[in-house]
This record gives sequence, structure tokens and C-alpha cells, in this order.
Amino acid sequence: MGNTTGEDLAAKTVVFGITGGIAAYKAPLIVRGLTGAGIEVHAVMTDAARQFVTPITLQTVTGRPVHTEMFPAISPNAYEVEHIALADRADLFLIAPATANCIAKLAQGIADDLLSCTVLAGKAPVLVCPSMNVNMLSNKATQDNLDILRKRGVHILEPAVGELACGWEGAGRLPEPQRIVAEVERLLFQQDLEGVSVLITCGPTCEDIDPVRFITNRSTGKMGSALVEAACMRGAKVKVISGPVNIDYAPWAEVVMVRSAQQMLAAVKESLQYCDVLIMAAAVADYVPSVYRDAKIKKGDKLSSIALSSSADILSEIKPMKEERFYVGFAAETENLAASAKDKMTRKGLDMIVANRVEQAGSGFASDTNSGIIITPEGILDDFEQIEKESLAHKILDFIRERV
Ligand code: CTP
Repeated sequence: MGNTTGEDLAAKTVVFGITGGIAAYKAPLIVRGLTGAGIEVHAVMTDAARQFVTPITLQTVTGRPVHTEMFPAISPNAYEVEHIALADRADLFLIAPATANCIAKLAQGIADDLLSCTVLAGKAPVLVCPSMNVNMLSNKATQDNLDILRKRGVHILEPAVGELACGWEGAGRLPEPQRIVAEVERLLFQQDLEGVSVLITCGPTCEDIDPVRFITNRSTGKMGSALVEAACMRGAKVKVISGPVNIDYAPWAEVVMVRSAQQMLAAVKESLQYCDVLIMAAAVADYVPSVYRDAKIKKGDKLSSIALSSSADILSEIKPMKEERFYVGFAAETENLAASAKDKMTRKGLDMIVANRVEQAGSGFASDTNSGIIITPEGILDDFEQIEKESLAHKILDFIRERV
């Protein structure tokens, strides 16, 4: 199995259909996002789309001719049947914005212009991004047509809710360009984790002392978030249990926010039965205040120490529930990396442990890169130096994929 990192997108081609809604003005930004990821984009514009954004704009940002006519007077490639050649070239069809009319035509198989002919002639997956007035969207005709497309396996990106250009409020806004680009990237990824449910814990835990103070650690959730994104991109069903972080997790994951180690333990226990793989990337507190004070501790209280107790070790607690599940732990180490991590893996009953050299620059908490080793009971699988957390996430998932 290949290592599925972002570079794989460089060889992909998207045929991008733009139909006549006001949100067509966002199309050039979508193109910029796609080409920025290395994707080749061929734009197809309907007559109505050209009322909102010009072919010259799309030609400039795609860097190639824009397709507008079913029967162009002078075809650049006169020997090609244009809609078939375009359809054959596509790894994915993206239609954004997709009007009610376009959705109705796709649902009924009507092929009366270049875009509808091309999609009908294609075998690649289709991503439709509806965008229209809220009442046109909720109309039974449109909803029935969307249902037909969903049943046929067409991917529908739900419109955003908010103020609409027509003056109405509600569902119907085209999602932001980066959201559409992310969806395209996910659909172009190799879906080698399809059917696998992954539970990922992320971030630190916060252990409250009183209403204004708490104990926490340096974890930012970056490594966990990279794992969430990579697993979602590869088709896994992902649930995240996260301590307090300043991160937006990938939009496809179900996210449960918790605060303390105790809450994280409860959430993990509750979610465990639904997962095939557990990745404990969270930096869980080992010590928690023995007593929580309901009222703020005042200067005048002359506090000289805070009594701490050990928190429950989540991995040890759930060891008896392991069954066929694949457990992955992380180890933050400053010395004896391999020996300490191996010992942790055995003690906690893990199938794999990722040990980080946290004392090293460019590794561990808050860094965009990581250095360390990946160990399984068979031995050290990998020794990595300063690799991006995104690439490390894919590497970890590659090793997991080989074992589940
Ligand atoms: N972990 C856990 N419950 C805890 C503490 C840690 O499940 N209360 C998990 C972490 O999510 C990680 C693994 O155990 O996957 C190792 O965490 P680490 O902090 O490196 O080790 P500790 O078990 O806390 O041991 P020490 O701090 O002594 O190194």
C-alpha cells in the first residue's frame, strides 16, 4: 500500500462545473484552492454561470481553456468529442454552485448542455454543492432530486445556513471555498480506511483547582488533529474525544469535548464499543487536585500547597475491554526513549506506541514536526526525525492499516 500523503493529489484532475447562481463569484477561489493542492482543473461553465463570472477569469486561474459550448465553432482539439474527452479525463466532477435546475437535470439524466452531457458521460465520482434561495432548496422537488442523487452515490455537500444574497435567511449558502476544496481532496484520497472506526483522544486535560485556576500541560492537540484529519481523508469513521484546545477538527469527525481526565475516561469507555482502533494521543493529567474548592482561593487563605491525587490511567482502565480492538498509545519521553516506551506499551497492553523525543527542538508539544520512534511488540518499526505531524499521522495510519 502506498503512503497516502497530500502529494498524491498532484496527479488528479477535477472537471469543475459552474452553474448560474450568485455564488459563482466564489468559483475562482475554489480553483485557487484546488490548483494550490496540485490538482489539475478544467472549468465548464453554463450560459447562466457566465452572467455571474467571466470565462476569462476562470481561464486565468485554471491556466487552461474554459469549456462553455457544446458545439464550439473552432474547437482547440477538433478531433476530440469535447464532452466525452472531458468526462474521460475526470477523477472527480465538482459542481459548485449547483442550481436547482442543474440538480433537477442531473437527477433526471437530462443532457442539454455541455456540463450535463459531460457528467452523464462520466464514470468518476460527482460532488454537488447546492446553492440557492432557501425556499427553492426546501421545495419538495429539489429535495426529491437531491435524494435521487444521494441514492445514486452522488456526494452532496450540505449548503451553509445564513444570510442569502437574495435577502432571505436560511440554508442555501455555498460553503466557503476552503471547505469545498477540503471535500474534493478527501474524495480524491485513497479510501483505504473505509469501514474502519477510529476513536482518537487529543489535547491536554484541565484539572480544576477552584473556579479560576487549573492544572494542565503543554499539549495543543496538533498531533491528534493531524491524525483525525488523515483518518477522515482516508475514509475512516472518526470520533474525537478532546480536551480543551484551540483547534478546529476536520469537519467529517464527530467531536466530543471534555475537560478533565475523569471526563475523558468516561467518554472513552462510552465510545469504545463502536471503534476498531483507539489512538490515545491525549496528554492526560497524571495528577489531579484532591479537592475542588467551589469558591476562589483568596490571597488571605495563605495557601502553601495543593494536595494532589493520581488520576485513573485511561489505557490501563480499558485494557480488559480490548478484545479485537487495536490500541495505539503515545509516549512523551525525555530519556531512555525506546526502553521506556516499550515498557509502557507492555504495561498498558498496547499494539503500538509512538514515542516522541519531547525535549528535542522541533518535536513534541506545540511543534508542527515530531521526532521519535514507532514500536510494536515485534520491535522498532520506524525512527523518524523532524517530520511534519501530517506526514507522521499518515505513517502511523499506514502501519495501523497493515495490522487491522
Ligand atoms: N495515558 C492514559 N491515562 C493517563 C495518562 C496517560 O491513558 N492518566 C495514556 C496517554 O494518552 C498515552 C500513554 O498513556 O497514550 C502514555 O502517556 P505518558 O504521559 O507518556 O505516560 P504515563 O503513563 O503518564 O507515564 P509517565 O508520565 O510516567 O511517563
